[in-house]
Parts: sequence; structure tokens; C-alpha cells
Amino acid sequence: MEKIVINGGRRLTGEVAISGAKNAAVAIVAATILCDEPCIVENVPEISDIAICLRIFKAMGADIQVINKNTIRFDTRNIRKPSVPYELARTMRASSYFLGTLLGRFHEAFVPLPGGCDLGDRPIDQHLKAFSALGAKDDIVNGCVHVKADELIGSQIYFDFNTVGGTMNAIFAAVKAQGLTIIENAAKEPHIVDLANFLNAMGADIRGAGTDVIKVRGVEYLKGTTYAVIPDQIEAGTYMVAAAASRGDVLIKNVIPKHLESITAKLRAMGISVQEFDDSVRVSVGDGPFIRTNIKTMPHPGFPTDMQPQFSTLLTLAEGTSTVIDDIFDNRFRYASELRRMSADIQVKGTVATIQGVKRLTGAPVKATDLRAGAAMVIAGLAAEGTTEISDIYHIERGYEGIVDKLSALGADIKLVYTPSNDELAVSV
Ligand code: EPZ
Repeated sequence: MEKIVINGGRRLTGEVAISGAKNAAVAIVAATILCDEPCIVENVPEISDIAICLRIFKAMGADIQVINKNTIRFDTRNIRKPSVPYELARTMRASSYFLGTLLGRFHEAFVPLPGGCDLGDRPIDQHLKAFSALGAKDDIVNGCVHVKADELIGSQIYFDFNTVGGTMNAIFAAVKAQGLTIIENAAKEPHIVDLANFLNAMGADIRGAGTDVIKVRGVEYLKGTTYAVIPDQIEAGTYMVAAAASRGDVLIKNVIPKHLESITAKLRAMGISVQEFDDSVRVSVGDGPFIRTNIKTMPHPGFPTDMQPQFSTLLTLAEGTSTVIDDIFDNRFRYASELRRMSADIQVKGTVATIQGVKRLTGAPVKATDLRAGAAMVIAGLAAEGTTEISDIYHIERGYEGIVDKLSALGADIKLVYTPSNDELAVSV
């Protein structure tokens, strides 16, 4: 079993380049199913969620050419069956995007109920509501969602609340439907805009992405294109917080500063310097204490829930008491018990965490309980005195390209270590 081992207490300094955005790339890769010609996607992050998508595509008969580690050519014209292999798809949330794209192309889809980070219950009722508005029927059979429509007719979709996945799937199903679809109360995340830009580059007619009303006029044909995925807002934010937690001085390159505004504002509120440039931000920390602050996660452009575990970790080192409210998911604080092993003072009641700042964190063996919680453990390990061993790092590898190499290049004492698990040791005796 692989672990990440960090000897903490070293200041991060230097430059780091941010990769393509995971949550944009998984949607854009799925959207190639709708394309009537081959297309090339650039700046694809080299992460395990993408690797799973490529395995799914190959199993379905698509022709995938990896031109280089971040550039992939997709030719999905040979896909004949609108069904996704069970074992592969059930591991990630983004597999729900095969519902919308296969429905959009074949008017039918069989997709396993999606998996992904364990953040509590993650239903897809709003996705199904969108499909139903366009004329599809759905049912659950053998652990799969089956959606089918004789034809897809443009309609009005009104989401009960902001849903990134629901908005993505509504766009997928509408982009080749007959007539106009109006998506109301749409999510506004940067990855929604990126998907719309990709589809429009292929000849789709999508307007209003990034606002809460998105209009999609169905088209017959989507031509090939070459498209580069936007930089990852959450990866960038994670390195900003890591730089701060290590009291370092880091230039984070290949970013869109506007996407980072809520994170920048909160770091500045803590007394941390953030300088913004055209496509980079510089985070540096003086000798002063971190000032406590409060966080409430919100849909974009509010403070992103995907930055909550990382930021809460930083707050464990602030002077005074901070509160963090994250009610976007049922339970996104499972990492708190791991932080307490590292001397943090964090108490969670429901969707509210109360954090009493401590002078220092101490290294310990901890687990990554999900993708962003794993990133939080890395940040805690960088700041802590002593050695931190992080297990279950497959969570982290789902969304952070080359995190060990990138942090090593910034001066961290961090390495990937293979340690036989107890079962493996038992077998080897
Ligand atoms: C996307 O998940 C992201 N995943 C998540 O990032 C991110 O945390 C989330 O959006 C919010 O920004 C991908 O893009 C692959 P939602 P998604 O639909 O689409 C509930 C990461 O760390 N809901 O906006 O699943 C849902 O349970 C991952 O990169 C319903 O009740 O999020 C949640 O409580 C983690 N019914 C809330 O809405 C539905 O039909 C927001 O979910 C859909 C969602």
C-alpha cells in the first residue's frame, strides 16, 4: 500500500504550475460522446478520474489516442451501446455524466449509480428531473440508472437548488434536443462555463453559462475541435493554502485569478499576503499570527466547498476561534478526527465546525477520507512538527496531478512510500 510521508516544518518557496481542472475535464471528456467527429482535448490533468474515464471509453469501443500526458484525441464514433461498464463507473461521481451524454446521443443510457467521494448521500433526483423535462423516462435496474426517450424536446428546467452535476447533465441532454431548452437556477461554477465553451467550439448553441439561466438551442451536428481545459481553481487554492500553512512564499502559475477571488479574500482576511498577476498569484506570509476568520461555503462565486477541508486545516493554526459552515453536503468534515490526531482543536456538530487555534500541529499517521480531505492532510503534514504518514492516498490521486513532485519542487520533505499492508505482510510471512 502506498503512503505519502511528510517531514513537516519546511517553508514552501518557489513556483508551481497548476494543471487542468478536474471538474471541467471529466465533463469535457464525457462530452466527446456527443461529437460527430474526432476532437482533441489539451491541458487534461493526469489524474486517476481521467484514467478511469479513458478505460470506460475504450471498453465502450471509442478510439482514444494519448498524444502526450495532457493531450488526448477522442474518436467516439464507434460507440454503439449506450451502456457503461459497472465496476469502472461506480467509483466516481462524474460517471453520471455518461447519463446525459449517452442520452443526448442515443436517446438511451444505462449507467451505474455514481460513486465518488463519501460526503454523505449524493442523489441524482435533479439530474433525472432535467431528463424528464426533455421527454425521458427513467428507472433503476440492477444498480444502474436507465434513461430512455423516443425523442428529446427542448423545454424549461427549473432546478430546486444549485447542482453542478445536474446543470452539466441538463446541458448534455439539451445540446442536440429539438428546439430551445432554458435551464433556470443553473450552477455557475467555472467548469460549467468551460464545458459550454467546449461544446460551442464544436458548433453547439449555448448561451448564459456562468449565470443562473442557461439557454441551449439544439443542433444536429457537432464538428471536431481542439480545446484546452481551464486551470484547476481548487488545485490552485490548495497550493495557496499550503504556501500559507508552511509560512512560505510561493508563486502559483497557470491560474485565472478571478476564479480564486473568494479564496484570496479569505487568505487576506487572515493577514496573509496574496498578490494577483495576469495568470498567477503569489502567496507569502510574514511573522505575524494568522488571524481567525469564519467560512460559509456557497455555490460559485461563494467560497467553494471543495476548499473547505484545506482551509479549515489552516484555521487550526489561527489565533482565536473560527467557525466553518459547510452544508452543501451532508458530511464533509470526516477529516476532523484525523486532524485531532495531529493536535488540532476542531469540534464538529452537524455541518458546523468550531476551530480553536493551536500553536502547532504534530505529525501523526492519518487517513485521507476523501479527495479534498486528503489534500487537507497533506497541508497539515507540511505545517506540522514531525512526521506525518497519510494512507488511502488513492483519494488524493483522483484529483491532484503530481502532488508529491510539485511539493518536493517547492522544498517540502515529502515522498511516496510503499509499505506492505497487514494483509500483504501476513501473506508474506
Ligand atoms: C460537483 O459534485 C463536484 N464534482 C464536487 O467536487 C463539488 O463538491 C460539487 O460539484 C459542488 O461544487 C464534480 O464536478 C465531478 P452538486 P456534484 O450536484 O455535481 C445535492 C471534488 O472535490 N444534490 O452541486 O455531485 C448533493 O448531494 C468534488 O472535486 C441532490 O440532492 O455536486 C449535494 O449535497 C467533491 N440531488 C448538493 O446537492 C441532485 O440531483 C450539491 O451537489 C444533485 C445534487
